[in-house]
Amino acid sequence: LHLNDVKFFSRHLRARRHNTHKGSYGNVAVIGGAQGMTGAPLLASRTALNSGAGRVYTLFVEDALPCDFGQPELMCRTAAGFDLEQATLVAGPGLGASPYASDMLASAIASGSALLADADALNLLAANPRLQTALAQRPGGSVLTPHPLEAARLLGCSIAEVQADRVGMARKLAAKLNAHVVLKGSGTVIAAPNGDAVINTTGNPALATAGTGDVLSGLCGSLMAQGWPMWEAALAGVWLHGMAADVLVTEGAGPIGLTAGELIPAIRVALNRM
Ligand code: APR
Ligand code: MG
Repeated sequence: LHLNDVKFFSRHLRARRHNTHKGSYGNVAVIGGAQGMTGAPLLASRTALNSGAGRVYTLFVEDALPCDFGQPELMCRTAAGFDLEQATLVAGPGLGASPYASDMLASAIASGSALLADADALNLLAANPRLQTALAQRPGGSVLTPHPLEAARLLGCSIAEVQADRVGMARKLAAKLNAHVVLKGSGTVIAAPNGDAVINTTGNPALATAGTGDVLSGLCGSLMAQGWPMWEAALAGVWLHGMAADVLVTEGAGPIGLTAGELIPAIRVALNRM
């Protein structure tokens, strides 16, 4: 299957009804932001907000708590003590590899909340078979968004082997970890544990810049928080992320020099148009 129109997921789009409130649109909590990597969870969080989540928490795994002064709608907290049951969890952006980060990831996996794992959460998983077992046993499954190196680490193979058979490797990882896998890069592959796999057709090399993966994780997590099933959230998120970049390139904002933050308002427009 090639993902080239919105038929795959448009049935999950619903016009906002009048008598709704922020509680109707779900909570997202992004877990990340170790020292020196605070931008990653902020990009994911801003994207979650601008793609419709009702409330967004940004949970940091460091003591000196940053605040996003450019986005005061975000609730920036320390990860410790946060009730993980109250939100869809996006774990990994800028999470780092400290023991504390690993503990937070273990708590996220053990929670009953919907979970998307990206970036350092995937690296922590690759280094810890017990976390992988716990992830694979989650009753509701999860969504993983590896780039080829992260996928190679999880599969115990080389990047070249991943790239030589992207659909096969995405399926293999989905089966191994009982997860919906988004294998990123040109021609992103989305694979389900049941073996279904789709290749996305939107997106372009303007996306080859730091932080665009963080934007994708925030977008997919936001759709999940708004009630989209994991499979459709992954498909729609990848498609919209690429479509936003395609539109921006037609407007001259790329392919050279597009920044991840600029994708966020374009994703909002693409989502509202859809
Ligand atoms: N064509 C289409 N899409 C592309 C292209 C391309 N040529 N290049 C990149 N992309 C898309 C990918 O499909 C993905 O959605 O851009 C996004 C890049 O995501 P990441 O590789 O995760 O990059 P980044 O956001 O910088 O990652 C931030 O997380 O994965 C870690 O090591 C990474 O520390 C870094 C952090
Ligand atoms: Mg990344």
